[in-house]
Amino acid sequence: MFARNSLQFSHRISKNVTKSFDVSNSLLLRNVCDNKRAVTPRILITGGLGQLGTECAKLLRKNYGNENVILSDIIKPTEENLANGPFIFADILDFKNLQKIVVDYRIDWLIHFSALLSAVGEQNVPLAVRVNIEGMHNVIELAKQYKLRIFIPSTIGAFGPDSPRNPTPNITIQRPRTIYGVSKVHAELLGEYYHHRFDLDFRCLRFPGVISSDPPGGGTTDYAVAVFHEGLLNKKYECYLEPCTRLPMMYIEDCLSALFQFLNAPKEKLQRRVYNVTAMSFTPEELFSEITKHIPDLQITYKPDSRQYIAENWPQVLDDKEARRDWGWQHQYDLPKLVNAMIRDVRTHFLPKHRLKEVNSYV
Ligand SMILES: NC(=O)c1ccc[n+]([C@@H]2O[C@H](COP(=O)([O-])OP(=O)(O)OC[C@H]3O[C@@H](n4cnc5c(N)ncnc54)[C@H](O)[C@@H]3O)[C@@H](O)[C@H]2O)c1
Repeated sequence: MFARNSLQFSHRISKNVTKSFDVSNSLLLRNVCDNKRAVTPRILITGGLGQLGTECAKLLRKNYGNENVILSDIIKPTEENLANGPFIFADILDFKNLQKIVVDYRIDWLIHFSALLSAVGEQNVPLAVRVNIEGMHNVIELAKQYKLRIFIPSTIGAFGPDSPRNPTPNITIQRPRTIYGVSKVHAELLGEYYHHRFDLDFRCLRFPGVISSDPPGGGTTDYAVAVFHEGLLNKKYECYLEPCTRLPMMYIEDCLSALFQFLNAPKEKLQRRVYNVTAMSFTPEELFSEITKHIPDLQITYKPDSRQYIAENWPQVLDDKEARRDWGWQHQYDLPKLVNAMIRDVRTHFLPKHRLKEVNSYV
């Protein structure tokens, strides 16, 4: 481990600082390194192979260097996942191992994406309690011990039937009815508590449904991703929500730029530690009508399931004016731009892989 660390360390110095570096000058080494560390954080992403993690790693690596962003998860990475920077196994339920990673890799920021999402959480409540609540206890305790900046995403699922739904303000009644939502309110409150009590640099954004060409992880807003895959592949889609179910949404690029901007916002600007962010709100009917401008023969049928009940208790429109006021949040993508981008992304990234899989399955 020591040899590996020294290798990474010198690699980092040589890439970031100077090519002809005198390794024997340890004082200079320490100074240069400390100055550099002040501007280039080392970041650990948990649950990094999910819908948000890999895209987030790409953005952070572009800004901070490949080797400064460590992706981790408990699932097996693809060659593509391994291509651009370090990947390690990290189970967020294993505190000692997480502690070792933070020390060995000298982590400064922790982006905690591991979670069981809303629909999956309802199917296995005990596991959701462990991953979403116990796992969160582990990372927040680590962040406190090692003085890390920690980002934990929350969600529109942190609201419930007693919350005002249109619009849903930043501070209001929450009382969600899913274990996913309960665990996210717990994370918000514990994070704020650690911030006030221990001065922890806890940051949290409540994201709406995030739409990207990567397969979604079992949430209630997944229909807005699946319809592009199924629509382009088979020209038909069966929707599990009623046509008029309005939910807040955002394209992945907006989600990641909110995350990046918020992570870098000076702390004096943050009047809160938990902010709503959103870009648009639409119903399945409105989304499908925009998609048929690109795929005119798209056939849609509706067969609502238990996710309809979840969606009916969530915000229709998220009010994010506090994020816009405090740290300048602005979205770029509205519904027509989102549909254009998704058709392009799914055609470029998803369809070729899917066809390759189909061909290989006959071999
Ligand atoms: N995708 C969205 O629309 C959306 C919206 C709001 C908030 N969020 C939040 O963003 C985060 C990431 O969401 P996502 O869509 O990428 O989720 P995802 O389900 O695609 O990915 C979650 C990852 O967590 C990993 N994981 C599960 N158990 C683990 C464990 N014990 N240890 C380590 N990793 C484990 C999974 O392997 C998976 O790769 C979640 O916290 C989610 O609540 C997502």
